[in-house]
Amino acid sequence: MCGIVGYIGQKQAYPILLEGLKRLEYRGYDSAGVALQQDHEGRLAVIKAKGRIADLEAMTAGRDLSGTLGIAHTRWATHGAPNDVNAHPHADMSGKLAVVHNGIIENWSALRQLLEQEGVKFRSETDTEVLAHLFARAYKGDLEKAVQEGLREVRGAYGIAVIHADRPDVLVAARNGSPLIIGVGEGEYIVASDASAIIEHTTNVIYLEDREMATLRRDGLRTSTVDAIPTHKEVQQVEWSLEQIEKKCYPHFMLKEIMEQAESLSDSMRGRLDAETGEVVLGGVRDVSKQLTHARRVILTACGTAWHAGLVGEYLFEDIARVQTEVDYASEFRYRNPIIDEGTIVIAISQSGETADTLAAVREAKLKGALCLGIVNVVGSTIARETDAGVYLHCGPEIGVASTKAFTSQLVVLIMTSMYLGRRRHLAPYHAREIIKGLQAVPDLVRHVLKLNDAIRDVAARYKDCPNWLYLGRGYNYPVALEGALKLKEISYVHAEGLPAAEMKHGPIALITEGMPVVFLANKGLQYDKVLSNMEEVRSRGGHIIAVATEGDKEVARLAKHVVSVPDVPEPFQPILNVVPLQLLAYHVAVMRGCAVDKPRNLAKSVTVE
Ligand code: F6R
Repeated sequence: MCGIVGYIGQKQAYPILLEGLKRLEYRGYDSAGVALQQDHEGRLAVIKAKGRIADLEAMTAGRDLSGTLGIAHTRWATHGAPNDVNAHPHADMSGKLAVVHNGIIENWSALRQLLEQEGVKFRSETDTEVLAHLFARAYKGDLEKAVQEGLREVRGAYGIAVIHADRPDVLVAARNGSPLIIGVGEGEYIVASDASAIIEHTTNVIYLEDREMATLRRDGLRTSTVDAIPTHKEVQQVEWSLEQIEKKCYPHFMLKEIMEQAESLSDSMRGRLDAETGEVVLGGVRDVSKQLTHARRVILTACGTAWHAGLVGEYLFEDIARVQTEVDYASEFRYRNPIIDEGTIVIAISQSGETADTLAAVREAKLKGALCLGIVNVVGSTIARETDAGVYLHCGPEIGVASTKAFTSQLVVLIMTSMYLGRRRHLAPYHAREIIKGLQAVPDLVRHVLKLNDAIRDVAARYKDCPNWLYLGRGYNYPVALEGALKLKEISYVHAEGLPAAEMKHGPIALITEGMPVVFLANKGLQYDKVLSNMEEVRSRGGHIIAVATEGDKEVARLAKHVVSVPDVPEPFQPILNVVPLQLLAYHVAVMRGCAVDKPRNLAKSVTVE
């Protein structure tokens, strides 16, 4: 999704802005731009173009881009095609005021008409340009006031940064529904939509709340609501390091993040499991443990990959915590007028903590009086702050657009959370101890599965040109089938469908043709025999079975063309091991098809608009 960087300080802004944009590239974008306040001439230099940041860099080569105040943006088109004119920053008619914006201005069309009647000439098709003209109309020498006044007329979501050619001493930033963070340095501030653009410079940050704004000067900052009521902000620390957001020796972030899952899973468990007592220590939910103990119903809500984790969570909460559990797409939950009674706990799962639908689901659940927990990776993100309590993933920054290590950490956190509830309800300590011991062994087993990378690459080479794939699994592995199919389609643009294996007979079996790749999750477990029958059905219709199976399984080897053997673990842990080969399979197919693995077309890392 769009990225914002802004700088005010003593240093040259342009290299800092450009570096920041590069750090945000992973979020997905189609155009980029920068506006600089050029002290010596009292004007703004605005350069923007469709394409990659490298194209912008090439365009600016040799130009005078000096200046210590500027804003920059990577755009992901919503209103108006991706082109040079629609790229941000957008300026007012005088060219003196420039704004970059993430989010969507809902009443932009009405505002545009109004401004046009007043004689404003629009250049772009964007909703954002409305902001530039509104602020310019209200500007009487005080940029902060102009932004405040302009925002009063605006309905919708925004994270913005604004500068004015006549005010070389001020950068104004504001947010409503779209994240904005301020990095606090010595005599300088960096505004960004994401901490990864800041941590190279400082780990001291301030998170803006909805309808809050900041006026940044080199000698200090002032924050207030957009209605001009002063607010007080604490400087907080970002946990992530620069090293964590770099690719190291890997060709893609996605591969790096797949390969570091043994470590990220250990990080998610660290300090939270006691194998001696069978206790799970989750500091973030301690204050609400009584309500958790008496929960009568759990609703897990999320989008995309996080929703798949929620589907596994449904099995876990019913098996381990023995509490009635449902899973809902956040986008459906928020508009469905869900019934929430006393005793309902809503758990939102989100890597970024900024997904618009998941955040809206949290707000809807809170409005209806539910206790809301967050299972979130990004510390300080909006969902993390707005939920009543929660458990962080602690799996480190996930930069690849396709979610991988966050998914496996979500599974581990869901296991731990279901045990936390279970121990307070019916789960005996000896049983909890067994689960904990099993869970603690998982990172090493994942390390073992990762060694199958070369064999999985060979399978990818064999099927990379196939246009249709099916992924099938049952029970705990049904969500893994969905996740495997999602990984393949989102990064390799190959059509894939994931299904509970039993559903195949109710229609999708008609799709199976000679040589079609059908991926089965076929580990030993409760429904193993049923899965074998499904495999027979596929084989007899000429489908080529690629099976993830328990080590040493001869029956599966007889039916499948290719077997990826994984260690034998209890069913609740199988999704963690099983998804790893499917992530690698999708990765290799995408690479072999020449796809931009870390920046798949049309996709954004964090979907902060509906
Ligand atoms: C798929 C993927 C998306 C996200 C979804 C939710 O690989 O990354 O489906 O899982 O957009 O994002 P978060 O977890 O940030 O709420």
